[in-house]
Amino acid sequence: MEIRNFELKDINKVIEILKLNDQYLPLLEGPEAMKRVSECEAAVYLVAEEDCEVVGVIKGIYDGSRTLIHQISVHPKYQKHGVGSALVQEIARRFKEMGAPSVAVTASTKSKGFFEKSGFRELTHAVFMVADSVDEVVEKGKHYSKNSQLYASLFSFSMF
Ligand SMILES: CC(C)(COP(=O)(O)OP(=O)(O)OC[C@H]1O[C@@H](n2cnc3c(N)ncnc32)[C@H](O)[C@@H]1OP(=O)(O)O)[C@@H](O)C(=O)NCCC(=O)NCCS
Repeated sequence: MEIRNFELKDINKVIEILKLNDQYLPLLEGPEAMKRVSECEAAVYLVAEEDCEVVGVIKGIYDGSRTLIHQISVHPKYQKHGVGSALVQEIARRFKEMGAPSVAVTASTKSKGFFEKSGFRELTHAVFMVADSVDEVVEKGKHYSKNSQLYASLFSFSMF
């Protein structure tokens, strides 16, 4: 098995694997997004090859402080053959090379046992939350930013 950086020629195979594992979200994981991730310096995006065929994928980021594995997917035909462990081991090695002190993952309930075997432990107070659209969060933030402008002007008023 070879673990190497994701390349654009892998797009169709990666989509196939994600679809087979019910992990393909076209808006988040489509070809354009894959291209952007492969060009992102903070991201590590790897594939596993068996006999020159892509059989697994992993991606994560290191932002200079924390790391997070966002996605791992192994072709169902190749699961339980060590592909997932090899991908996790290699991404951790890359993060270490970049200077990361630790590594975290957003794990599904089904994959929890796999990550435990790979050296992760559960943080019971961690809850994975998502907003359906980034606009929703920007809109909610309006109220706060209006207030903070008000506080900023009150603050500068009291200074002079
Ligand atoms: C979870 C996944 C990445 C594991 O990859 P894999 O190649 O099958 O894992 P490995 O063969 O390297 O397994 C390593 C060890 O974990 C165990 N393991 C694998 N999947 C497991 C699971 N779902 N639950 C518990 N243990 C698991 C293996 O039995 C093996 O144990 P061993 O060392 O005692 O033999 C793969 O099953 C997958 O792609 N699943 C679908 C997508 C998914 O759930 N992704 C994670 C979302 S966060």
